Amino acid sequence: MRIPFIAGNWKMYKNKKEAIEFAEAFKKLYYDTDVKTAICAPFTQLDVLVEAFKGTGIGVGAQNCHFEDEGAFTGEVSVGMLKEIGVDYCVIGHSERRQYFAETDETVNLKLKKLLRDSEIIPILCVGENLDQREAGQEKDIVSAQLKADFEGLTKEEAAKLVIAYEPIWAIGTGKTATPDQAEEMCALVRKTIEEMYDEETCDKVIIQYGGSVKPENATEIMNMDEIDGALVGGASLVPEKFIEIVNF
Ligand code: 13P
Repeated sequence: MRIPFIAGNWKMYKNKKEAIEFAEAFKKLYYDTDVKTAICAPFTQLDVLVEAFKGTGIGVGAQNCHFEDEGAFTGEVSVGMLKEIGVDYCVIGHSERRQYFAETDETVNLKLKKLLRDSEIIPILCVGENLDQREAGQEKDIVSAQLKADFEGLTKEEAAKLVIAYEPIWAIGTGKTATPDQAEEMCALVRKTIEEMYDEETCDKVIIQYGGSVKPENATEIMNMDEIDGALVGGASLVPEKFIEIVNF
């Protein structure tokens, strides 16, 4: 049985004061549900969120990490540093990192291995095609190639722990959501690709989220799809009243 998992990705929004205000407001609205919930925030807001959500069941995630233990990597944050703060999740390979910060499948793979082998932090791996690739009918080839490269060398036990977010780039922050059928088709492809790489037992365990303009108005129909176990929510996760509606889809 896969437990539904709704995560917010704040991207580069909210200072410390705003993060605390969100946490206090969200805790008042949140009651323990069967839905796993987490907020992935900028590095500098992780400690206050871990503190604020202690004992609530609400998880906290980072949005990136480095794959080395330490070293001369200006501006980077290690998995050990995240562990020390007590984060539960880490987004890896978001399309914005692939697009603007030269994230490649190779570095994504190294980061997944580091998180899975040296911490209990669960990676939320993002994959997805851009508009040109979708219009050329290449979305399935693109996403399965990303998965194969990103999973390179992972054991089936490691693979089974992953959360995968299918996020079509053309639906991120554009207000243009994939239709539930389009999202379902691609999440099914993600699961099938994992089955091909490993086996049915492994692909049955992997949590697959959809991300891209998820909001209270469309959360229920997306979450009703068989292959979709959750959502990775950008803009709508910044507002407690909106995010709670999505969590309580
Ligand atoms: P939006 O929900 O703002 O479209 O962002 C989606 C996303 O990129 C989550 O990681």
